[in-house]
Amino acid sequence: MKRGYNVDDKGSLLIHSGNVVTATGSSRSDVLVRNGSIEAVAPGLHGATEGVDRVIDATGHWVMPGGIDTHTHLAHPIGRLGVTTADDFYTGTVAGAFGGVTTIVDFGLQEQGGTLGEARHQRLAMIAPDAVIDYGFHIIVTDVNENVLSEMEGLINSGFPSFKIYMTYGDKKIGDDDLIRLMEVTAEHGGLIYAHCENDCAVTHLIERHLAEGKTGPAYHATSRPPEVEAEATNRAIMLAELAGASICIAHVTSSGAARHVAEARARGVSVWAETCPQYLVLDSSVYDAGGGCEVAKFVCSPPMRDHSHVDALWEALGAGSIQQVSSDHAPFRFEGQKTGGCDNFTQIPNGLPGVETRLPIVFTEGVVRGRLTPERFVELTATAPARIFGLTKKGRIEPGADADLIVVDPDRELTVSAAVLHSDIDYSPYDGMKLNGFPTWTISRGQVIVDERALSAERGRGRLVERVPIDRPSLQ
Ligand code: URP
Ligand code: ZN
Ligand code: ZN
Repeated sequence: MKRGYNVDDKGSLLIHSGNVVTATGSSRSDVLVRNGSIEAVAPGLHGATEGVDRVIDATGHWVMPGGIDTHTHLAHPIGRLGVTTADDFYTGTVAGAFGGVTTIVDFGLQEQGGTLGEARHQRLAMIAPDAVIDYGFHIIVTDVNENVLSEMEGLINSGFPSFKIYMTYGDKKIGDDDLIRLMEVTAEHGGLIYAHCENDCAVTHLIERHLAEGKTGPAYHATSRPPEVEAEATNRAIMLAELAGASICIAHVTSSGAARHVAEARARGVSVWAETCPQYLVLDSSVYDAGGGCEVAKFVCSPPMRDHSHVDALWEALGAGSIQQVSSDHAPFRFEGQKTGGCDNFTQIPNGLPGVETRLPIVFTEGVVRGRLTPERFVELTATAPARIFGLTKKGRIEPGADADLIVVDPDRELTVSAAVLHSDIDYSPYDGMKLNGFPTWTISRGQVIVDERALSAERGRGRLVERVPIDRPSLQ
């Protein structure tokens, strides 16, 4: 037994005596990994360690599926502002690994006039040399035409079943007419629409009104995108999906109104799923109060943070099951030089917050440690449900045959958040000073220990494309 050997995905690994937590239960057990897959989960496997390359003693630790983050924007261009998110596929996936994420599903953007195939091709060429964890991506459809509609079946059947759409955001926005055409195709072939829902007419009007009234500081970003614009667009997207018989996942639900529309639609049998994000669970609209100064730009994202009644409603929806997953919407921009470009005009602030590294610890601390979520529900929200919803058949579970994507967490170990201890290529964290549990001691991807006692041990480019399967609607309920 070669202790200390960092097994690659051809080796074997025994994780000994941890509290193994899955979406359905917890028990003290060993996990035996061979050739990148889980071979056995049972107590007492440590009796047969002969020939095992490495043993991790997980006594006092929790062993859980690696996190799956289906909403990251790495190297994501914001054409309108001429900026790109600050993490590339190396820094972003390293940050993910330190935060217990073993798979991301990022985005490939269709250019105006371009094809979906080109978007896939370009993105794959960017990701492959850099990623340290596994990856897939959703194609963002921005320009709907007959050719695009005819490309979709092939994409759905070759590992890319989900399509992101924006109901707002300048030239990325698609209208209801195009949305229903996309939904008809995804309904026919087992695809999923992943929707950013805000009413574009209302947002555009409110922005113009704010600017005309001289309300230009960063804090006015939030009042230009009130909860009603989100709830209205969410309901509209759901109703169109219902009409087309399509499956839809609502991105970043932030408001009680949007959450209620999702719950009501699910109750009448619509294939709708929803995510929220940590920022909407632990921050509220008071982040926009800081005297109107530019610091507020650090918290500018869309939709914006809401008041406490909405925060409470989101926790309730997570507990009740009407929101099924928590993703990060990791869209990191540096404060100096990127966010500060909009100190005098909130429309010039790139929208987005970092979060791939803090997602699991925030949900663990605020959910499990504070007693709002069971450990099993934590696993369901951060790994098992995202895998099921987005067609990652080998991920998000601890059972024989699944990929050996695991995290080993000391639940009592606390870390104080700052940009300096995190791994994103930015100069702040929205959670600066927050004390969080749930950062993994070890992160294991396909059997390889890639974070080893809080040190990186993964070579650049080791991550692999995860080809996802078409969306099987009945199994998602
Ligand atoms: O503000 C956000 N969320 N920026 C990232 C782009 C998006 O909306 O998904
Ligand atoms: Zn969005
Ligand atoms: Zn996003």
